[in-house]
Amino acid sequence: MNYRHSFHAGNHADVLKHAVLLRMLTLMQRKESPLCYLDSHAGTALYDLLGEDASRTGEYLDGIGRLWSRDDLPPLLADYRDAVARHNPDGQLRLYPGSPQLMADGLREQDRMIVSELHPEDALTLKEYFAGQPGVAVHQRDGYELPGAFLPVAEKRALWLLDPPFEKGDDLQRCLQAVQTGIQRMRQTVVALWYPIKDQRLLRDFYQRISQAGLPKVLRVELNVRPVDTQLGLNGSGLMLVNPPWPLWEELEQTLPWLAGELAQSGPGGWRMDWLAGEP
Ligand SMILES: C[S@@+](CC[C@H](N)C(=O)[O-])C[C@H]1O[C@@H](n2cnc3c(N)ncnc32)[C@H](O)[C@@H]1O
Repeated sequence: MNYRHSFHAGNHADVLKHAVLLRMLTLMQRKESPLCYLDSHAGTALYDLLGEDASRTGEYLDGIGRLWSRDDLPPLLADYRDAVARHNPDGQLRLYPGSPQLMADGLREQDRMIVSELHPEDALTLKEYFAGQPGVAVHQRDGYELPGAFLPVAEKRALWLLDPPFEKGDDLQRCLQAVQTGIQRMRQTVVALWYPIKDQRLLRDFYQRISQAGLPKVLRVELNVRPVDTQLGLNGSGLMLVNPPWPLWEELEQTLPWLAGELAQSGPGGWRMDWLAGEP
């Protein structure tokens, strides 16, 4: 396990993932009934953007850094920026909330959160950090086991972030299997599966498998900050959203063109959004 999210916290991929995730939680919370948030590859709670790891890559500067001081953000992005700002009350961008922190901040009394992280150091930090916080359970275990272990949830409403580091060649396949297990166990589970846009050949196969996997509804959302064939690494990222709450689709249509323009790094940024299964 070499991947450490502290090098990448707040980058363009986190902006897309966290802004969409936060909005999905808010939309699901329009109903009073409780929900359970599952975070299978959690990372840690708070990242120091001025610390050694984040400073070394400077990736956050081209992510949250580009949105931080803007007063013209589309509403979905303004909510996300404000959520980050709550951890930086003096107005200086320094602390960045990872997915477990961002979502813990948004949970209501009736909601619950189940988190898993395999890296011993991050798992311990999370356990200590959330110790005694009602409704939060932290496990040091393989996140791919989460749907089999915890779905269906008693609340009958679940939002699950599946966000592995993609260090291994079979991660896309393992994600697909985990999502299928989750949906078989609780069909209405709302899933956000994050994936990197690097290898187009692998992705084409993944898209085909997702669209044939028998999932109820799947919305593909992608944001590119560089042309897709650039050999520099992470050219963009995507989210496969299973059962996305309404009207996320319409809201993202208003947001993604703006975001693609603002986060572009070389040449024009790009985005796309379409249904791979169950177009409403
Ligand atoms: C992309 S990072 C998570 C970022 C976090 N979800 C966020 O958005 O702030 C992926 C995390 O998965 C952890 N990890 C790797 N393999 C895992 C596994 N099999 N089960 C659970 N966690 C794993 C890594 O240690 C890393 O912290």
